[in-house]
Amino acid sequence: MTPNRLEITRPDDWHLHLRDGAALASVIGHTAERFARAIVMPNLKPPVTTVVQAEDYRRRIMACLPKDSRFQPLMTLYLTESMSVEEIARAKASDNVFAVKYYPAGATTNSDSGVRDLSHVYPVLEAMEKHELPLLLHGEVTDSAIDIFDRERVFIERHLMPLRERFPALRMVLEHITTRDAVEFVTAAPANVAATLTAHHLLLNRNAIFAGGINPHHYCLPILKRETHRLALLQAATSGDTHFFLGTDSAPHAREAKESSCGCAGLYTSHAALELYAEAFDQVGRLDQLEAFASFHGPDFYRLPRNTDRITLDRKPWMVPDEYPLAASTCRPMRAGESVAWSMLEARAS
Ligand code: DOR
Ligand code: ZN
Repeated sequence: MTPNRLEITRPDDWHLHLRDGAALASVIGHTAERFARAIVMPNLKPPVTTVVQAEDYRRRIMACLPKDSRFQPLMTLYLTESMSVEEIARAKASDNVFAVKYYPAGATTNSDSGVRDLSHVYPVLEAMEKHELPLLLHGEVTDSAIDIFDRERVFIERHLMPLRERFPALRMVLEHITTRDAVEFVTAAPANVAATLTAHHLLLNRNAIFAGGINPHHYCLPILKRETHRLALLQAATSGDTHFFLGTDSAPHAREAKESSCGCAGLYTSHAALELYAEAFDQVGRLDQLEAFASFHGPDFYRLPRNTDRITLDRKPWMVPDEYPLAASTCRPMRAGESVAWSMLEARAS
């Protein structure tokens, strides 16, 4: 029997793009209504590379929140080849920086300042290992000779396995995993390695990019994969394995930037984030596992307290609008003009 109501500990989003300025003000509400905390990605223009910049960005986020909101942004630094080991010590000493994000240069949105050669950041990784500061990985090679659907698997073989050998105690999160290969790698790893999973990779396979014509709103990076991979991700998310936790990778782009001759990567899912995960878990009859995945495994990995207030979802469909405001433009959300099977009811203080 599947329940029609689900009450769980308030979740956190362990991978989120909030952007900045007017776009930040447009999107923050959706996340703050659902989640207590979020790990905020640093791929702004220019990127957030220092603790001072991260703390400034945090203040801009806080200024956009409603007065009574208790939402907490958890900041990250953008790893560049010129980052100093002193910056890692400052990050560790800061109350607001929780991780460092690795983008392979050129892999995705605003990744030009990313890392070209991992060996150039070994001293920084050594400092992170020492300070127990997690490294968040966009795990894809950028080698144009490698098929786009294979870039995560090849990253694991070429870069992640050697990195694990060199820095065995480094705490790492392989972000937004999309393949059975990543599931197998993370499942077999010790507890200092984890992975986040997005709602869109749990619900969609690569056919969604081409269903009835090309759909730029289903283009994201890492790109959607074939059904066998989606099934492996769903199995991992719903297994109860503590390596896996919620990270939406919700990444708003203006509609015209996606509906373009060279469209940007990213799905916007914050408007229905938890509701979409509930659909995915329901598909395999594992709603009983949603709370651990959404609310326990993440804080346990980051060594933060679990939230104490609760959130209720009802099996009650609602229609997603065609678009939401995004600064001076609009953003087309996942499921635009279609229904989501679960609704968020209320939040109760503990
Ligand atoms: O689809 C994506 N969008 N993948 C990323 O890695 C970055 C993100 C963005 O910032 O738009
Ligand atoms: Zn991301």
